[in-house]
Amino acid sequence: MKILVLNGPNLNQLGKREPTVYGSGILKQLENELIEYGNEYQISITTEQSNYEGQLIDWLHESETKFDAIVMNPGAFTHYSIAIRDAIASISLPVIEVHISNVHARENFRQVSVTAPVCVGQVSGFHFEGYKMAIDYFRRGKHHV
Ligand code: DQA
Repeated sequence: MKILVLNGPNLNQLGKREPTVYGSGILKQLENELIEYGNEYQISITTEQSNYEGQLIDWLHESETKFDAIVMNPGAFTHYSIAIRDAIASISLPVIEVHISNVHARENFRQVSVTAPVCVGQVSGFHFEGYKMAIDYFRRGKHHV
């Protein structure tokens, strides 16, 4: 099984970015943890991060021939990018939306996700573990088309 883990804007700032909200771990640690986690289960994990909407959209489009599933933290794009939503809807791969923080316990504008309705579901508030929870769902074969 091949899973693409996509991180959106400002997630390259993990570690120095609002550590009380997002923790002290940096993106590289998160990515390495996920790759090692995948290795335990013979799952190939590919990680990408971009601050650019178009780049994320291109990766979504290109993912179809290369991966089986996607775990995505769209960052702030979650709350307003219809273009990312449409890109997720345009591909046949299942996508799980992940947030490090609990977006439902934060500002009102973070409680709206335009992307979640076209995802399998959303994992929010479990810090880095949330990515593994999403991987587990695919790993355990729980997703049915
Ligand atoms: C985030 C939550 C978003 O509201 C925020 O804009 C982010 C990170 C999270 O992982 O908790 O950039 O997606």
